[in-house]
Amino acid sequence: MLEINKFNKIIVANWKLNGSFEFIESYFNFLESVKIKKDICGIICLPYVYLDKCNQLSHSFYTGAQDCSNFKNGAFTGDISAFMLKDVNCQFSLVGHSERRKFFNQTNEDIKLKIENLMNQDLNPILCIGETLEEKEKGATNDVLKKQIIECLPQNSSNNSVIIAYEPIWAIGTGQTPTLEEISNIHSFIKNDITKCENFKILYGGSVKSSNVGKIMSLDNIDGVLVGGASLDPLEFGKILTA
Ligand code: PGA
Repeated sequence: MLEINKFNKIIVANWKLNGSFEFIESYFNFLESVKIKKDICGIICLPYVYLDKCNQLSHSFYTGAQDCSNFKNGAFTGDISAFMLKDVNCQFSLVGHSERRKFFNQTNEDIKLKIENLMNQDLNPILCIGETLEEKEKGATNDVLKKQIIECLPQNSSNNSVIIAYEPIWAIGTGQTPTLEEISNIHSFIKNDITKCENFKILYGGSVKSSNVGKIMSLDNIDGVLVGGASLDPLEFGKILTA
């Protein structure tokens, strides 16, 4: 398992359901020429079938999956286990992304099992949490995030092994973001007021692009960003990595 604390900032690309062998070749052709600082941890989370190719083509980035099975092995057609991710030299996996929760009915209980399976294989989980617009408008954001964290994080999670990504659901793919003050307050709430995740690395995700990443990253308690749409354009993602 990689020691998360050795990195200053963490920048994650989430390709979602996008990519091809042709695309991945041209992507790394460009991105490998971008000079990123040594203390930045760059992670590319891409569809399972391209994990191996990513390891072959990328020298400056870690490889991440977008999910893994709740189960270790057995009769679970279509699933990919944490062991299999380890077997293809994957180092990270997103878990609990809001699209997996929404479209694939994943619960906090499922997500906890995934994190346990990943940690048993020495892989680093990136736990995604976030509130809906309705929850935000009701003033329930902190309670929602706290519940997700408490129910998803296994007892033995540490700030050196698990990363948390705060992604307000209403900000994902919409071009809308919380104010800088809101992001900062929520990150310090997670770091300081939830005993289970003291000093965890917390990333912000949701409509991050090269034009807003500088301001977001300069906030005190932001340890990095999780980038969806904008990570699919290597030029744009290159700017985010060097902002
Ligand atoms: P977005 O997606 O950057 O396109 O908003 C972020 C995510 O879903 O991880």
